[in-house]
Amino acid sequence: MTRVYLSPPDVGDEERRLLLEAFDSNWIAPLGPHVDAFEKEVAERIGVPGALALSSGTAALHLALILLGVEPGDDVFVPTQTFIATANVVTYVGARPVLVDSDPGTWTIDPVLVADELEVRARQGRLPAAVVTVDLYGQCADYDRLLSTCAEFEVPLLEDAAEALGANYGGRPAGSLGAAGVFSFNGNKIITTSGGGMLVSSDESLIDRARYLSTQAREPVVHYEHLAVGFNYRLSNLLAAVGRGQLLGLDDRVARRRAINARYRAALSELPGLEFMPVASYGEPNYWLTCVLVDPDRFGATGEDIRIALEALDIESRPTWKPLHLQPVYAGAPTVGGAVAASIFEKGLCLPSGSRMGVADLDRVTETICALAG
Ligand SMILES: Cc1ncc(COP(=O)(O)O)c(C=O)c1O
Repeated sequence: MTRVYLSPPDVGDEERRLLLEAFDSNWIAPLGPHVDAFEKEVAERIGVPGALALSSGTAALHLALILLGVEPGDDVFVPTQTFIATANVVTYVGARPVLVDSDPGTWTIDPVLVADELEVRARQGRLPAAVVTVDLYGQCADYDRLLSTCAEFEVPLLEDAAEALGANYGGRPAGSLGAAGVFSFNGNKIITTSGGGMLVSSDESLIDRARYLSTQAREPVVHYEHLAVGFNYRLSNLLAAVGRGQLLGLDDRVARRRAINARYRAALSELPGLEFMPVASYGEPNYWLTCVLVDPDRFGATGEDIRIALEALDIESRPTWKPLHLQPVYAGAPTVGGAVAASIFEKGLCLPSGSRMGVADLDRVTETICALAG
């Protein structure tokens, strides 16, 4: 039997056809017709005028922070419960991440803590330069509350929707909610270009400026002329071709992941001591990964026991993100709360959720978990 991965790429004939078409056209460069078309198609899908295809989600976050005006010495709010890239980009620009705890009802950044901390800092005259939200495991943060608080204090909100393409908040697409939004097309995401990312915004001038910085800040003259320090961050035309094929199947992939989540819930919801990541009433996740919390006292085994039992069957599962305030590299970062995220990490497990996962593999996972339940 082949190994069951957590979230492997799901690519097919259309991606292959488009990739070969790009190859045969000899547009083997970080520009070309597939890049332009991929940007247009993602922008249409998200309902924003501007999109910029980039080499990674991390590159997109990095450029977004620069364009939102974050400077060395600034503070930037970041949820502590996320993949480390969300905070690393803050460090890249010489700013300092301030790590904010999760709301236990959604696992995303706690809007009450954000509001309270902004109020305290407004009084002290040390507001952060930006708030970065993360649509965790494909579930949007609570934007009505977060956006109104950020507007009140005039702090821009950057939406890290790396995991959330295809999700929505009250019908509004993930990625479109802040001053700018970011997607990742890394190999484990709901759609992939092997590696890649996209910056989207309703502010077209922000996208134009990001485009300029992403191509080494080259001036539009025939010789190489530079007035600013730029980056080499564009997506290759070959990979954009793969992304276009993947985008065609996005709805299908979201439906598959939703069905996987439903099957896990049907089989496991009644087990004592096992809880699913809560689904907020305000939106629809893309169910990128199905995650559970395991309380060892009530369940009779730990999440790590489940992980090891699945690994013995060559099935990959993984602990939920280790909060950044518990990461040695960010040990000195200021933290607002942290106990909620720490407890999610202590009990959390991400179950295999790939869009090609079949019923037999799903049943092997659920049977293994049921057999461990005490
Ligand atoms: C929340 C989050 N932010 C940022 C990233 C970075 O994206 P990339 O790997 O494309 O640089 C990822 C995933 O990889 C992520 O999960």
